[in-house]
Amino acid sequence: MKVLFIGDIVGSIGREAVEKYLPRLKRKYAADVVIANGENAAAGRGITHKIYQQLLQAGVDVITMGNHTWDNKDIFEFIDDADYLIRPANFSTEAPGKGMVQIEKGGVTLTVINLHGRVFLPPHEDPFAVADELIAEARKTSPLVFVDFHAEVTSEKIALGWHLDGRASAVVGTHTHVQTADARIYPGGTAYITDVGMTGPYDEILGMIKESVIYKFQTNMPARFEVPKSGREVLSGFFVDIDNKTGKATSCERIYINADYPFEA
Ligand SMILES: [Fe+2]
Ligand SMILES: [Fe+2]
Repeated sequence: MKVLFIGDIVGSIGREAVEKYLPRLKRKYAADVVIANGENAAAGRGITHKIYQQLLQAGVDVITMGNHTWDNKDIFEFIDDADYLIRPANFSTEAPGKGMVQIEKGGVTLTVINLHGRVFLPPHEDPFAVADELIAEARKTSPLVFVDFHAEVTSEKIALGWHLDGRASAVVGTHTHVQTADARIYPGGTAYITDVGMTGPYDEILGMIKESVIYKFQTNMPARFEVPKSGREVLSGFFVDIDNKTGKATSCERIYINADYPFEA
């Protein structure tokens, strides 16, 4: 099974980049399943029902979330009915929605799990323990397991990657919005990248208009961060090819498309 993952989609520029490049990427990689992180899809903050449907329409099969899950209140109205939207599985048991979903393509089942880091982020449940539990459950059905670990620090993400080596087909990091160059397959067969990076405005700061971010750093005064409505785009992604019998990754590649690194067919 060939899986494409798209990093944090930020605002309308990010959504338009998905619509523009996803058909070409699906052809290039012969992708069976597309997963995308949508925590910033609605103007940088959360996701709406309309955007959830638009992303599915654009060819995304499963949407994962992160620390911005609840930023747009619309999510409380539809998350329990959104079959292919997952939020971090190690959120409180009070949280609506779910943290794991299974999708079947061509007779092969893939489990997608979303987890949240705990370093420099709110104190959620232990992502390592929750991963152990959910992967054991998922592997009763199929050995193909894809994990989006939404976390801040590189060490926590690398630690989960090694912890799950041989039990997950892929562990990818999201949240920092900056792609790392460490894509690899661990000895046990787990494809890994510390951060996939973001999909959205290319000429701003993590997707937010740069002037207010610079002002914030200079003055430490309150500043409102907004996503721009127009400008150049970046699409950051990750591709993994998984053996259908063993669930082990056989190849992986990072994807980075923007004005400096144009799409190559
Ligand atoms: Fe994000
Ligand atoms: Fe995030």
